[in-house]
Amino acid sequence: MDAEEFRRRGKEMIDYVADYLENIRERRVFPEVEPGYLRKLIPGEAPEEGESFENIFKDIERVIMPGVTHWHSPHFHAYFPTANSYPAIVADILSDAIGCIGFTWASSPACTELEVVVLDWLGKMLDLPESFLACSGGTGGGVIQGTASEATLVALLSARAREIFRYKQTNGHVDDGVIMSKFVAYCSDQAHSSVERAGLIASIRMRKLPTDADCSLRGQTLRDAINKDRAQGLIPIFVCATLGTTPSCAFDNVKELGTLCQGESIWMHIDAAYAGSAFICPEFRPLLDGVELAESFNFNPHKWLKVNFDCSTMWVKDSNLLTEAFNVDPLYLKHDNQGAMPDYRHWHIPLGRRFRSLKLWFVLRTYGQKELQNYIRKDVTLAHQFEGMVVADDRFEIVGKVVMGLVCFRLKNASNATNERLLKAINADGRIHMVPSEVRGVYFLRFAVCASRTTESDVSFAWDVIRELTESVLKDSDKK
Ligand SMILES: Cc1ncc(COP(=O)(O)O)c(C=O)c1O
Repeated sequence: MDAEEFRRRGKEMIDYVADYLENIRERRVFPEVEPGYLRKLIPGEAPEEGESFENIFKDIERVIMPGVTHWHSPHFHAYFPTANSYPAIVADILSDAIGCIGFTWASSPACTELEVVVLDWLGKMLDLPESFLACSGGTGGGVIQGTASEATLVALLSARAREIFRYKQTNGHVDDGVIMSKFVAYCSDQAHSSVERAGLIASIRMRKLPTDADCSLRGQTLRDAINKDRAQGLIPIFVCATLGTTPSCAFDNVKELGTLCQGESIWMHIDAAYAGSAFICPEFRPLLDGVELAESFNFNPHKWLKVNFDCSTMWVKDSNLLTEAFNVDPLYLKHDNQGAMPDYRHWHIPLGRRFRSLKLWFVLRTYGQKELQNYIRKDVTLAHQFEGMVVADDRFEIVGKVVMGLVCFRLKNASNATNERLLKAINADGRIHMVPSEVRGVYFLRFAVCASRTTESDVSFAWDVIRELTESVLKDSDKK
C-alpha cells in the first residue's frame, strides 16, 4: 500500500467507521455465533501472495462483524462502559503514524511532555491535591497506565519495595522472600478481581475484608484486621480502596481508611476505575474526599470520559517510590537529560509505551470540561430514569443505591434461579445485553448506561424488553 492508496483506503475506512457507529443501533448487540465460528470462515494459512484491499475490506462484514459484541450500541448495558469518541480515534491514527515507543524522555520528548501536562490538566479537573500534580514542583505526578489492573499492581509492587527497604534499615539484611512472607495487604470483599490478582502476582497475601450494609469498607473493619495481623507478627503494607465497585458501584470510606493508613504508614491506593470520571462534576467530587490521604489514585478515562481504550490515569504523591521500585538502568537506555523529566519506563511494568496522551489531549480540547461534565450528568440522569421505571413496577426491587450510571435490580420475592432465568432470557433474546452480579448470595441484574449514543428512548426500550421477558419467565415459573 503506497501513500496514494493509503489516502484512499484510509478515507474509505473512516467512512466505514462513521457509518458503523452512526448505524450501530440497527445491529444485534450480542452476536449469535458459536465458539470456533471464525476458523471456518478464513483459510488455515496466511496468504502466500498479498491480497487486494477490496477482499480484505469485504471480510470485515463477512468474518468480523458477525462475531462482534457491539459495546457502543445504545442497547449495550453490560459491565461498565468503555469510552469511544471521534477525537480519540483521530488522535490514535496520529499516534499510530508517529509510532514512537516513548519509554524515556529522549526516546520521543513530546510523548513524555504531553503526558506530564495533560495529567496535570486532568488532575486539576478532579481537584486532586497539589501533591499529586507535577506542576507543583514536588515529587508528585501522573502517568497513563494501560489498565486499572496495572495501576493497582504498580502501586502494590512499589509499596512492597518501600517496605522491604524500611525493614532492612531497621533489621539489617534479611532475604527479600523472608521479609515478604510477613507482608499483608487489604481490600474489600467487593474489590475488583484485579486486586486479588495483584496480590498473587506480587506474592503478597491479600485479605478481602467484609463491608457494611452499603458494601463500603469501613475504618473499624480495617483497624481490627490490622491489629489481628500485627499480633501475629505480620506487617500490613497496603490497602486498595475502591470508589465505585464493579458489582454494585459502592464506595469505600476513604476518609476512615486513609486516616488509619496514614497513622500506620500503610500505602493506600484508590481504584476508581469507573466512577473516577464523574469526579470532574462538583456534585460528585465529595465522593473523592479523603484522596489527600492516599499515596496513589487511579481511574480509567477509557471507561467513561470519551477516551478510547487504553488510557488508565494514575497519580502518585511520590514518584520516587515508583522509580526506585522499577529502576533498572542499562546503558542503552540512558540519556543526557535524565532526571529533568520523567522517564516513564520506571513508572510501569512494560518498557514500551504508545503515545496515549494524544487521545486524552484531543478529547479534553474538543469537548472542554463543561461538555464532559454534561456527558456524565446525562448518563446519570438516564440511570435514574431507569431506576424510576423499576421502582414503579412492584414486581421488582432496586439493589443498593443508584449513585452514578449503574442500576442494580432484581425480581422481588423471587429466587436467585428465577432472576438468573430472566437474565438469560434477556441475553438470548438479543435486543439488549446485560450481565448479572451477586452480593452476599443475592443474585441481581446490572443495568449500566454505557454507549454515548444512549437516549431516553433507548432506556425505555430496554425496560419494555425486560418487562416483556419478565412476563414469560414468570409464566414459565408458575407452570413449574
Ligand atoms: C473497580 C474496578 N477496578 C478495576 C477494573 C479493571 O479495569 P481494567 O480493565 O482497566 O484493568 C474494573 C473493571 O471494570 C473495575 O470496575
